[in-house]
Amino acid sequence: MPVYSKKVMDHFTKPRNVGVIENPDGYGKVGNPVCGDLMEMYIKVEDDIIKDIKFKTFGCGSAIATSSMVTELAIGKNIDEALKITRNDVANELDGLPPQKMHCSNLAADALHAAIEDYKKKKKK
Ligand code: FES
Repeated sequence: MPVYSKKVMDHFTKPRNVGVIENPDGYGKVGNPVCGDLMEMYIKVEDDIIKDIKFKTFGCGSAIATSSMVTELAIGKNIDEALKITRNDVANELDGLPPQKMHCSNLAADALHAAIEDYKKKKKK
């Protein structure tokens, strides 16, 4: 049984920003090649600042905890700042993940980046 930090358990049992945003400014969907789990991320952006963010996942507990944490890290940030959030930042903020669960944190950061790229693409049109 992997040992989870208190913060992981807190975000897993009380995930922040779960849900869907209708008509998002950016949307990202990624799959985890390791386990096949899925993550969706929605963002609302004003003046390049992430004003709202929601996620939905068909992932394990670590995927839920890392996405919850990534939404807290990203909200209120400029999109270019938010693009710099890495899976390691997320894991560090959660006081670490068991090594066999590190792959789960890929989903959260990757889905956030995908949503921001989507926003940037739409803005150019
Ligand atoms: Fe699939 Fe964790 S086992 S995201």
